Amino acid sequence: MMKHIYEQGKNGKTIILLHGTGGNEYDLIPIGKHIDHEANILSIRGNVSEYGMPRFFKRLAMGVFDMESLFEETENLYEFIKTSANDYGFSLSDTTVIGYSNGANIATSIMMMYEKPFGHAILFRPMVPIRENEHKNLKNVDICMFSGSLDQTVPKGDPEYLKAYFESNEARVTLHMIEHGHQLTREELEDAKVWYHALYV
Ligand code: MLT
Repeated sequence: MMKHIYEQGKNGKTIILLHGTGGNEYDLIPIGKHIDHEANILSIRGNVSEYGMPRFFKRLAMGVFDMESLFEETENLYEFIKTSANDYGFSLSDTTVIGYSNGANIATSIMMMYEKPFGHAILFRPMVPIRENEHKNLKNVDICMFSGSLDQTVPKGDPEYLKAYFESNEARVTLHMIEHGHQLTREELEDAKVWYHALYV
């Protein structure tokens, strides 16, 4: 069981929200509702606390991940999402995961460890969580990435690496490289909304 908020929607789709370091399950709800105000919302708090700041897995230093924690928490989170789908009665194939920063990293980790874990994904400022990747089937999974060319947190080249990785696993990927740092911009939230709605026309 993970701390979370679930709100029942009315269009049969589900948005799964994964916050950044120091955030919580309340943070991204306005973004989820902005993108699809009729979807169910499952917003989850990371299991790990770094000096009181919630995260989805431990790190040893800035940008240096504790791989044991990453693998363990990736499994915990995905198990929790599957249990939630069962308990709340939503279909995993009709989900869009939206992750920011640390939340985007664990969403990516799930997509590197499991076949088609979500319907679609919107990743804000993702990094490469796992380098030695097996092939995972992501056919018909749509992924929209938003990365910042001035981002000091994400190593250079990570967004392009992820795009190539996802594409080699047959996902459809859109990478928006914007001239901005790690913080989200209003404009990219609009672009994310447009991208999401275009999936269903
Ligand atoms: C991470 O630790 O996942 C990344 O550095 C992003 C973040 O600080 O949350």
